[in-house]
Amino acid sequence: MSMPKVELHLHLEGAAPPAFIRGLAKEKKIDISGIFDERGDYSYTDFWHFLKVYEAATEALKSPDDYHRLTLAVLEESAASGVIYSETFISPDFCGGRDLSAWREYLHAIREAAEQAEKRDGIILRGIVTPIRHFGPDKAKEVALCAAETADDWIVGFGLAGDEKSGKPNDFSWAFDAGREAGLRLTCHAGEWGGPDSVRDAIRDLKVERIGHGVRAIEDLSLVDEIAEAGIVLEVCPGSNVALGLYPGYRAHPIHALRERGVQVTVSTDDPPFFHTTMEREYAMLAEAFEWDEGVFFDIARTSANAAFCDTNTRDKILKRLEKAYA
Ligand code: ADE
Ligand code: ZN
Repeated sequence: MSMPKVELHLHLEGAAPPAFIRGLAKEKKIDISGIFDERGDYSYTDFWHFLKVYEAATEALKSPDDYHRLTLAVLEESAASGVIYSETFISPDFCGGRDLSAWREYLHAIREAAEQAEKRDGIILRGIVTPIRHFGPDKAKEVALCAAETADDWIVGFGLAGDEKSGKPNDFSWAFDAGREAGLRLTCHAGEWGGPDSVRDAIRDLKVERIGHGVRAIEDLSLVDEIAEAGIVLEVCPGSNVALGLYPGYRAHPIHALRERGVQVTVSTDDPPFFHTTMEREYAMLAEAFEWDEGVFFDIARTSANAAFCDTNTRDKILKRLEKAYA
C-alpha cells in the first residue's frame, strides 16, 4: 500500500480537510457550520447536495494565501498516501471569480505551495483548469480565456466538472476549442451521472483524450470497445462512486470489468475527505475486492504516468521512480 502512486483526478477544494475549512471559516467569521455533521465531517445527502456543500466550503477559501495553505495541506495528505505525481482540477470560478489578474495571483500562490511541497515531500503537482458545468457555457468561456492565458508547463490541461445532467458537452465546445488551441490537453467528467450517451457526446463533441469517471460506459459494451480502441483513458474514482451511491460496493464497481475488456483505467480519489478515502485506501479496497496484486497496481500507475498531461521530462522522472520501486 506504500507503493508510489500517480493520481490524475483530484479537485483541489474537494480535497480540503474539513478541519482546515472550519478553521478558515472561523478566522473569517463565516458561518458554514451547516455543511458538517456532529463528528465534524462533511455532510450531504446525494450528489447534488454534495455539489452544494462543496460550493459552500469554498466560501471559506477567499484569498490566494488560503489556496497556498490549502495546496500545502492537500499535498501533505497525498504524499502520505504514496502519491508521487498528482494533477489537480482548479477553477477561476472559485479562484478570483474568473478575473484574469486575480486568477494569476491565485495560480501564483498555488504553484508556490506546490514547489514547497515538492521540496518537502518529493510530490509533483500540475494543474487542469476546470469550469463548472452547471455554471453554464458563458462562464466556461471566461474560464477558458483564463486557462489559455496561463497555459504553460504547469497548467497543462482543461476539463469540465460539475453536474453532468446540466446541458450537453456540445454547449462547451467553444471553451474546449479555446483550451485545445492554447495547447492544453483535454478531459471531461462524463459517465458518472449520465449514461453511455453522455460519454459518447463528450468524446465526439469535445475531442477529449481522457474521461473523468466514464464508468457508466460499461452499460454499452460497444462503447467500451470504442474507448479501448481509441486509447481514451478513464480517470476512475471507485471510492467516490461508492460513497455517492452509484454502486453498492467496490465488488460491484465496473473498474475490473473495464480493465479486463482492454480499457486503460487509472485510480484516483476525486474529493477524498468527502468520501472518507485516500489513495492508500483505494488501493487496499481494490486489492481486496478484485484480488489485484502488485503487478496490476504497477500497470495502473504506469498507465497513469503515460496518460499524465505533463511534459516528457517530468513523465520520464515519474516512470523511473515507479520502475525503481516496483522492480
Ligand atoms: N466536482 C467535484 N467532484 C465531482 C464529481 N465527482 N463529479 C462532478 N463534479 C465534481
Ligand atoms: Zn471529479
